[in-house]
Amino acid sequence: MREFKDLLSPAETNFNPFEIYESIRPESLIRAEYEGPLRGEIEVSGTKNMVTKVIAASLSAEKGQTKISNIPFVGDLAITLALCRRLGVNFRLNEDKTLELEVGGFSNPNILTDPYHGNRVAILFAGPVLAKLGEANVSVPEGCKIGERKIDFHLTGLESFGVAIEEHEDYYFMRLKGSKLQAAHFDLPFPSVGATENLLITASCAEGLTTVTNCALEPEIIELIKILQSSGVEIRISPPRTIIVRGGKHNIVPQINIIPDRVEVASLATAALATRGDVFINGAQHEPLINFLGMLQEMGGGIEIMEKGIRFFYKGPLKPISITTEVYPGFPTDFQQVMAILMSQADGVSSIHETIFENRFKYMDELNNVVDDGKPMFVRDSCPPDRGCRFRKGGFRHFAQISGPVSFGTGEIEITDMRAGFAALSTAILSKGITVRGLKGLYRGYEDPVGKLKHLGANIELIL
Ligand code: EPU
Repeated sequence: MREFKDLLSPAETNFNPFEIYESIRPESLIRAEYEGPLRGEIEVSGTKNMVTKVIAASLSAEKGQTKISNIPFVGDLAITLALCRRLGVNFRLNEDKTLELEVGGFSNPNILTDPYHGNRVAILFAGPVLAKLGEANVSVPEGCKIGERKIDFHLTGLESFGVAIEEHEDYYFMRLKGSKLQAAHFDLPFPSVGATENLLITASCAEGLTTVTNCALEPEIIELIKILQSSGVEIRISPPRTIIVRGGKHNIVPQINIIPDRVEVASLATAALATRGDVFINGAQHEPLINFLGMLQEMGGGIEIMEKGIRFFYKGPLKPISITTEVYPGFPTDFQQVMAILMSQADGVSSIHETIFENRFKYMDELNNVVDDGKPMFVRDSCPPDRGCRFRKGGFRHFAQISGPVSFGTGEIEITDMRAGFAALSTAILSKGITVRGLKGLYRGYEDPVGKLKHLGANIELIL
């Protein structure tokens, strides 16, 4: 299977940053066991949850070129670039982690992802394609199975811009009712990250003043706002969560930088602390991690914030904590899986109340299969006694308790979603010998996770 090489690399070179991603088969596995504390220095990659959206937003501009730097070589980018290629967008991906993107029109309206390599990005291209071609066929989003993940806010949001939508089995046919996208007013029922990004990109293509209330304001969304504003779109944020956009024709920003991946920082940092290690993460940024760092401090983990990054080090027994996942600036849902592994190494009962996705604890059943000594992790369908959430009455298993310390023995873990994938690696490097399977999702979101852990001294192997 070499489809990405042919699609992405200039024919004259052998450069294929997606080689590992496309080599992963259902039988591929990772084997790891405890070797000692993680130690050393590692560089964080660019954020995967920003790069794909930046590409979609860039295509909303008029003709021109942009160079995007600090590109992470993850499967999600491969999927998104393949989508660009099918839309007739030209680009060049370089070994120095830059992506040169040529912006202009689209050769066809098919925003369709390959069913084997799905992600959630196709619908974010709808605004630019509708603005330029007047119609679009859009794949139904895929991505990790961590809840129902409806796209009703995206669809009703797009309708408010004057888009008619017909639902087909695995795609949506969308067309403009008038000659242009119309500016809109839309109240998001929940501060959805993807829907906020979608409406922001669409609003930047629509002439006139759009107001979207109850928006998500994750750091990656602020970056998207900065890029669109630099390209000439008028944008304001009105507290607490309203984004006001005056869109229309705008130019491309010639240089864009992808910020470091805060989820990767949390993944490596928790692995470092869980193994009682000492790791400096070069490029880790302080501001988007304030709450996470506060939680580590509360647990007794060592942190040292430096100019070029953050050092995470073990300085004594870890204390249990309780976290609730929330929209930013609350504790991120994408950090809870790796945090659970750190909690398993603390003395006492920790808890995680997941309030963003209703089904994001499947991985705990997998982890329980490899608990050697200590209590199994326990997931309830109720909220904690002192705090309800919108999942209280749905029978959703969304509140977990972890009684540490837990030691992990031998056995197998099947990866249930991307972030659970890194949690599985952290478990494996604490264990007596674990095999991890179901790797495709892990490599869709992390750049060379095995190589990075190995570099820090872990005994871990990828067997393709
Ligand atoms: N929701 C709806 N209807 C919609 C949109 C969302 O009901 O139309 C609900 C979802 O079902 C969920 C909640 O709103 O209960 C929040 O979902 P959101 O739209 O914020 O999530 P997303 O945009 O699909 C992105 C990230 C996720 C991250 C979440 C929350 C990408 C590609 N994905 O998903 O990242 O967990 O925001 O921060 O950016 C990951 O990286 O592993 C990952 C899953």
